[in-house]
Amino acid sequence: MNHDIVEKNIGLMIVGIVIAISFGGLVEIVPLFFQDETTQPVAGLKPNNALQLEGRDIYIREGCVGCHSQMIRPFRAETERYGHYSVAGESVYDHPFLWGSKRTGPDLARVGQRYSDDWHRVHLINPRDVVPASIMPAYPFLAENKLTGKYTAAKMKALRIVGVPYTDEDIAGAADAVRGKTELDAIVAYLQNLGTVITQKR
Ligand code: HEC
Repeated sequence: MNHDIVEKNIGLMIVGIVIAISFGGLVEIVPLFFQDETTQPVAGLKPNNALQLEGRDIYIREGCVGCHSQMIRPFRAETERYGHYSVAGESVYDHPFLWGSKRTGPDLARVGQRYSDDWHRVHLINPRDVVPASIMPAYPFLAENKLTGKYTAAKMKALRIVGVPYTDEDIAGAADAVRGKTELDAIVAYLQNLGTVITQKR
């Protein structure tokens, strides 16, 4: 049979596999680059302000993404617990995105405004104070580390190059907006903004 020829000739097999996979990629991936649904921001989406942006970088630095996803899947069990499923247009200003894939803790895609700022402060300084059985690490040092704002404007400029619509005013005021604030202030500001553009009763 002809199949034997392909199966016994690894070179031919490799060429065949490459063609098959490229075709699959073209059909499934390429259209996504041209669909507004995946490339355009959802209505009302704003880029992180200076303090939220610093908070996001602290979230990355501390590896929160290793235990928390930010991606609610369109399944009933998920939407009942976390709210509306995540849509691509919510992440268009995220570089890099923090969807994650590990859920040691709950998904955080819509944690914004679910708790008070004070709850988050206590929780981050020592999770056991508000959730006795929590296995989340404590981050008390965030309350002591002060931000200088030295690189905030530069980060915003870099993000603007890849399409995040920061204005000259945002950039000019960036350092002043974060200077003297603590890392805890920044990460709480970031968390409180997560997923708040699409709201739906949980
Ligand atoms: C080792 C895994 C782990 C890491 C790392 C971790 N968390 Fe958690 N997190 C958890 C677990 C488990 C819970 C659930 C128990 C609780 O609320 O403390 C949780 C809960 C939370 C909640 C409450 C979510 C909700 O809907 O109730 C927030 C907010 C949160 N974490 C933020 C963070 C942030 C910010 C960081 C990084 C500074 C972080 N976590 C790092 C494991 C982790």
